Amino acid sequence: VWALHPDVLALLQRGERAVRLTAAQMTALHECLRGDVPVSSLAPELFAALFESGLVTPKALEAAPDARDWAARLPDLALSPFLRLSVQFRSGRIRLRGMDPSVGLFLDPDVVRVASALSARLDSAIRRVARDCAVRGIAFPRARADALLQEIAFRRLDNDPRARAWLEWSRDERGLHLSVPRPEAIDRKDPAFAECSITAKLGRRSRQATVPTAALPGLAAVFDVLRGGPVGPAAERALRGPGAAAVLGLIESIGGFIAASEAPPSLAQAASAETAMTATHLGHAHVLIDSEKHRILVDPYLHPGDAAFERQPPTARQLGRIDALFFTHHHDDHLNADSLLTLPHDVPVYVPAEATGPWRARPGDFLRAMGFVDVRPLRPRERVAFDDGLAVEAVPFYGESSATLGWNGLCYLASRGGRNLLLHADSSPDVQGRSIVSSGELRRIVERTGPIEAVFGSWWQEHTFAVQLGADAVLALPPSRWLEDAETCDCPTGYLLDLVRLCGAREFLYYAESGEELFLAERKRSDYLRTVSFLWTPREEITRLLSEAGVHAAAAAPYQRLEIPRTGPPKLIP
Ligand SMILES: [Fe+2]
Repeated sequence: VWALHPDVLALLQRGERAVRLTAAQMTALHECLRGDVPVSSLAPELFAALFESGLVTPKALEAAPDARDWAARLPDLALSPFLRLSVQFRSGRIRLRGMDPSVGLFLDPDVVRVASALSARLDSAIRRVARDCAVRGIAFPRARADALLQEIAFRRLDNDPRARAWLEWSRDERGLHLSVPRPEAIDRKDPAFAECSITAKLGRRSRQATVPTAALPGLAAVFDVLRGGPVGPAAERALRGPGAAAVLGLIESIGGFIAASEAPPSLAQAASAETAMTATHLGHAHVLIDSEKHRILVDPYLHPGDAAFERQPPTARQLGRIDALFFTHHHDDHLNADSLLTLPHDVPVYVPAEATGPWRARPGDFLRAMGFVDVRPLRPRERVAFDDGLAVEAVPFYGESSATLGWNGLCYLASRGGRNLLLHADSSPDVQGRSIVSSGELRRIVERTGPIEAVFGSWWQEHTFAVQLGADAVLALPPSRWLEDAETCDCPTGYLLDLVRLCGAREFLYYAESGEELFLAERKRSDYLRTVSFLWTPREEITRLLSEAGVHAAAAAPYQRLEIPRTGPPKLIP
């Protein structure tokens, strides 16, 4: 019969952390603690605030150790190979979605809100229109579709007065016009999303904690300990601050730790005195390169293990001692936010130098926000040398709509003792046909370094409407260009043939581009690759043409290793 008066405010306090609750929230919390309703019935922001401040704790965590205990226990622990960790940036109720975090994290959250909502609406309209045209067997009516999309966008924007603060829109007989009058006002130096939800999942158990984005570097230092590193001052500091203990408690509560002594062993150094280098494919576009003394990773992308896999993906800890990380571009399947949590954070990290403009990707700033302490932007032709003769040169990256949206990528040429390996990533000719082949850059590299024995690269031939390149494309491109044909890595067979011929390559390894599915047996994989490549030249056909040109081509498979000896042809080891 009695209830708290609706005007009551309650203050829940533990140590220095406190959360203010309304009467309704207090009642909801009470019902939840009594077990009458599930915790999922609490508003997620409230639950996150209570959990982060240590005011509520899962029952299993009641006796959770404090920061001092964690510092003592961490060296004996490792992350379970089956643990999935994922990050989601948030600003209050706005989630960073629809665009790569290295773009969106530094934009005013309201910009991300508007762009991702508009993008989702336009995307579903395009799919509908395209399907209806296909069903009736008529060509996509560009002008009518342009008008429809612009009408949808105009109506949505007109219902969103908040967006007027930074966006201007108008309509005339030529269509919809969008402009951001003061681009500097939407662009932030530091992460604009102050919170980060971290989800830990193991089997069917999944829990989430929200930590300040500013706590991520500290958390990174803690994860480095779980890779087998020492508990340094940064990790100790992090364990006293907000976030790290909450995330560790979260992992422990779902059984996400194993004893360090039971962690799978590191991958052995694959290169010997007779090899110039070896390149091991670890799924998607992730390549591990070993020289005699060094180990580097290109586009490292980590996948949690799964009992259904044929071979288990390596954990961050299994990658062992890494000397440097190289990222080709900022797309989430190459610069993968979830993987960044557990990769080593104290080694040099090389990324493409930033472009300019408000919609530019900022891989360097993003990596720093994720806790990487030594981030080094590279420009084409710059070279990173290691002391056993291994060197990595930055090579220009074309295509994947980098010119349309204004971002920089890099391909990499790894060399040692006159032997060369090109990591061509998702590069391709761009919409104007420009590429490292057409520009003469590849020819000049080969003249300087000698033949490039092997190439890792995409065989993708994908196109999309420009507006579907990402939520940022909705605002970055004029509406009249939304339905332009944009390539998202289009490597026609003729281009691949030119590429391998100019290189003088003997091996071409196709990137798999299907994420963790690649660890499943072929018969268990989804239809993703089959459907996405519906209109493409089949891989068998490309393989045949490459082989007529004297190049052995194969789809890269996990743990497949390419040995490049000091002399003689490269050897592919399954
Ligand atoms: Fe990409």
